[in-house]
Amino acid sequence: MSNIVTVIAPVNIAVIKYWGKRDEKLILPLNDSVSATFDTSVMCAKTSVSTHPDFVEDQIWLNGKEESFSNPRLQNCLREIKSRAVAEKTIAEDVLSWKVHVSSENNFPTAAGLASSAAGYACLVSALAKLYKIKSDVSSIARLGSGSACRSVYGGFVRWHAGSKPDGSDSIATQIADSNHWPEMRVLVLVVGNTQKKVSSTVGMKISSETSELLKHRIQHCVPQRTERIIEAIKNKDFYKFAEITMKDSNQFHAICLDSYPPIVYMTDISHSIVDLIHKYNDFSGETKVAYTFDAGSNACLYLLKHDVPKVISLIKYAFPSTSPENFITGLSVAKEEINTDIL
Ligand code: ADP
Ligand code: DP6
Ligand code: CO
Repeated sequence: MSNIVTVIAPVNIAVIKYWGKRDEKLILPLNDSVSATFDTSVMCAKTSVSTHPDFVEDQIWLNGKEESFSNPRLQNCLREIKSRAVAEKTIAEDVLSWKVHVSSENNFPTAAGLASSAAGYACLVSALAKLYKIKSDVSSIARLGSGSACRSVYGGFVRWHAGSKPDGSDSIATQIADSNHWPEMRVLVLVVGNTQKKVSSTVGMKISSETSELLKHRIQHCVPQRTERIIEAIKNKDFYKFAEITMKDSNQFHAICLDSYPPIVYMTDISHSIVDLIHKYNDFSGETKVAYTFDAGSNACLYLLKHDVPKVISLIKYAFPSTSPENFITGLSVAKEEINTDIL
């Protein structure tokens, strides 16, 4: 067998946010979520995996630094991959007993609210699946690493169905529309801060599910309608409707963070001034030209249409004169590529 495999995988940024689990171990969410997968040409995780009879232990290096492989999420992903290899009879049993080495790098800030866990685990399980020659769908294995990762396995616009079965077999990601569906759609990422967030997404959503009343309201009364409406907007390429729902859902997610006890604050003053600026720009334009969304971090993801990109970049530079090129990750189209397993 070829015993080194390298894969790249994209991030995805949700427009209907996943926030809260009903099962911590299987990583089953409380609500459906919807996202767009970005092109890997600017933001991606790149992961190499190898296995060899001489390796003495499973090891992982993330951005050049060794991390602990005893992380239960890594263990769960590797165990599930190996059990699929057994079920699919792809690999000799002695090879399955060899240890693995993993090395991964993100070409964008890690743990800063730009979906590194999504790209990272989608990449890791895709690389392991290729190493062990697994043919079946790996999205549900990626979910065991990080919930949002199950969406990064597909391009275009993706829905993660919460499902209701205790074993999680119906908690799956499906594609709403492929990457060719809305070719004018662009994403502009504004890097406000590249440091690691103080409260990880995992810990943050646990605090919110345990303490926020608003989270219960959102799940029962907001997400179901919003999900249906945004899917319709995506299918009809209705930017106005897409943008409004995206912004409202981002705002509600951060309101839930504040409604948590103790409160969790991901957005900074700069994040809030970006929100103000986008609303002013949309009002001034007489139509909704740009939608912002913020994950669990201070960085902004702007969804907009191709012909508005140059104007919006000038606007940001004008409003924030100290921004430098590294604050912009620009020109991203939504999901031109899916996971690329053929780079080596
Ligand atoms: P983010 O907002 O970037 O997704 P999270 O708090 O959800 O932040 O997750 C960050 C964690 O995801 C990291 O501490 C690390 O454990 C994991 N992670 C990030 N990138 C990778 C990667 N390329 N490979 C494996 N794990 C990764
Ligand atoms: C705000 O998938 O990173 O980005 O499942 O615990 O690993 P775990 O959390 P993660 O949470 C993502 C939260 C979010 C919204 C989203 O991506 O839907
Ligand atoms: Co994450």
